[in-house]
Amino acid sequence: MGLIEIIESRLLEDLNPKVKIVLEAGRYLIEGGGKRLRPLITVLTCGMCGGDPEKAVPLGVGLEYIHAASLLHDDVVDGAQSRRGRKAANLIFGNGVAVLTGDYMYAKALQLFSTYGNLEMIRVVSEAVMEMAEAQVLELSKVGELITEEEYFRIIDGKTAVLFGACTAVGSMVAKREDYETFRRMGFHIGRAFQLIDDLLDYAGDPSKTGKPVGNDLREGKVTYPLISVLDKLDKDRVENLLRTPEPSRKEIDRLREEVIKLGGADKTRERAKEEIGKAMEVLESVEDSPYKEELERILEFVVLREL
Ligand code: IPE
Ligand code: IPE
Ligand code: MG
Ligand code: MG
Ligand code: MG
Repeated sequence: MGLIEIIESRLLEDLNPKVKIVLEAGRYLIEGGGKRLRPLITVLTCGMCGGDPEKAVPLGVGLEYIHAASLLHDDVVDGAQSRRGRKAANLIFGNGVAVLTGDYMYAKALQLFSTYGNLEMIRVVSEAVMEMAEAQVLELSKVGELITEEEYFRIIDGKTAVLFGACTAVGSMVAKREDYETFRRMGFHIGRAFQLIDDLLDYAGDPSKTGKPVGNDLREGKVTYPLISVLDKLDKDRVENLLRTPEPSRKEIDRLREEVIKLGGADKTRERAKEEIGKAMEVLESVEDSPYKEELERILEFVVLREL
């Protein structure tokens, strides 16, 4: 079995709640698919650092549970309709079950880390989860407002980049590297690029590939990089009005979305993501060549070019 197959089977096996509906809701999200980037990056970083990648699998699985929990909660908070190409779990099971199944998954991750990891890893991972929660709240507090580029990065660093940073830090820690901060930095830049592209795909993605609709962020009153990058070419009052409208029409959203793309907002976002990947690549280049490193290089390329 290859690493990805081991990860997939453990993801389903380790999820063993006693209450049937928790299992159903958890499975619903996990079986819905997903790129499994976080566990992949965890085990590949471990291998690249000279460790046994299989030893990192349960920890990578724990990190994917944290990601899955954050998606369950995110879809409740964002009032999302779809996820991974199907109805969001909150629509099927209700907000209560979605939130509590998310809690179960966070605790499951903690259990895996206390069994297969160590206290230092638990520190890194718990700090990441704290930052994710804070950033999600920060983002909520800015709904309907025009935010600065600096505020934008504060939000995405917390909600997404730190978890990628925890993945690469943990991978290197399994390999007993003392310089895990270097690898945390690598993951952090991958995560920044990843969220920049997620925000680009919310403007210019293909829903049949991403599994979620376009225009969600604007509909929710959220300002992201594509819009920030071309804001000086737009009428700010008009944008603010749209952001503050509780239920803007699809036509209005699509109009602004298309304008942002036409003004170069999508291209600028991809360029910005490439800069971040460049910083991650610098760390990668400092490490000895191996098949794991090559696989990570491919993932880094995928992160900026991805359509899903
Ligand atoms: C979606 O993450 C949430 C973000 C942090 C942007 P992914 O795009 O990794 O979601 P899956 O796991 O592949 O569905
Ligand atoms: C998600 O950000 C970040 C976390 C889940 C922590 P988004 O709200 O942009 O993610 P999607 O677009 O719904 O996947
Ligand atoms: Mg969302
Ligand atoms: Mg969100
Ligand atoms: Mg998004």
